[in-house]
Amino acid sequence: MIHIEKLRKTYGPLVALNDLSLSIGPGEVFGFIGPNGAGKSTTMKILSGLVRPDSGKAHVCGLDVATQLDLVKHKIGYMPDFLGVYDDLTVDEYLQFFAAAFDIGRKRRRAVIDSVLQLTDLTDKRHAMVDSLSRGMQQRLGVARVLLHEPTVLLLDEPASGLDPRARIELRELLLELKRMGKCIMVSSHILTELAEMSSSIGIIERGTLLFAGTLDEAFRKAGVGERIAITLEPGPLDATAAADCLRGDDRLLGVEVEGGAVVATFDPAHRSHHFLIERLVNAGARIGAFTPRPVRLEEVFLRITKGALQ
Ligand SMILES: Nc1ncnc2c1ncn2[C@@H]1O[C@H](COP(=O)(O)OP(=O)(O)O)[C@@H](O)[C@H]1O
Ligand SMILES: [Mg+2]
Repeated sequence: MIHIEKLRKTYGPLVALNDLSLSIGPGEVFGFIGPNGAGKSTTMKILSGLVRPDSGKAHVCGLDVATQLDLVKHKIGYMPDFLGVYDDLTVDEYLQFFAAAFDIGRKRRRAVIDSVLQLTDLTDKRHAMVDSLSRGMQQRLGVARVLLHEPTVLLLDEPASGLDPRARIELRELLLELKRMGKCIMVSSHILTELAEMSSSIGIIERGTLLFAGTLDEAFRKAGVGERIAITLEPGPLDATAAADCLRGDDRLLGVEVEGGAVVATFDPAHRSHHFLIERLVNAGARIGAFTPRPVRLEEVFLRITKGALQ
């Protein structure tokens, strides 16, 4: 759905994109992650035809952005990183305005707007003023706007930025719904954790260079960050410190720590086995009370990849 080959973009001496290549398939939510200034917005602007690359190719649904832009525009919905100010417009008027701009016939407009309002859960807000909406609702309105012409590819630039946790969950639900509809979605953020749970694959970009592209699991494997298990012990012959000592030194584990009274073991991704862990502890006399997976540390994956741990 999106295919980019060796895209290069410079601004004077600054290399904003350095021969960037990537492909995104149908039904994928691709989290495009990198610090500010990495080149995320530039990539999206090139894909939507707003910025011309110095060299390289960009294709959307098999269409060449450079030579078939009119066709590409029908396929793509681009939501920039700011909504733009439209004071004195209601949600409905706002969508009417963009529907007209997209040349959606007067007769069809009502039905199309009703359907995007429903999808983005804004039907109740149709008569509210745009600038009275919460940030989360404004972002959903931005998504509603880019859905009007029924594009198959969505480019969403930092849609989760500044959202509170609830609004982020709502956005995630919306993206998953769009994914189920078969849309291909490229969504950017400078914070990995913001996107991790809504993305089916991620790309990490820094200073115009793509450092990694693949699934989150692949990112963990490549970064050598393993699954973590917290083991709580019931009172018995072995306390947490002694249990940790008994696990230390096993090369199937990347690390063993005691955190808040629990033993936290990090698996080497190549040797993930719960069984040996339990067996060792039980043989040493430990009474296992609970055995709980710990959330993976995304920041660590990100840091390792951006620090060149892949080279
Ligand atoms: N119109 C422009 N003129 C000069 N430099 C620009 C322009 N647009 C972007 N840049 C520079 O290109 C680099 C990439 O920017 P951008 O794609 O906006 O990054 P991101 O979206 O990842 O934060 C940054 O260093 C930015 O300052
Ligand atoms: Mg940006």
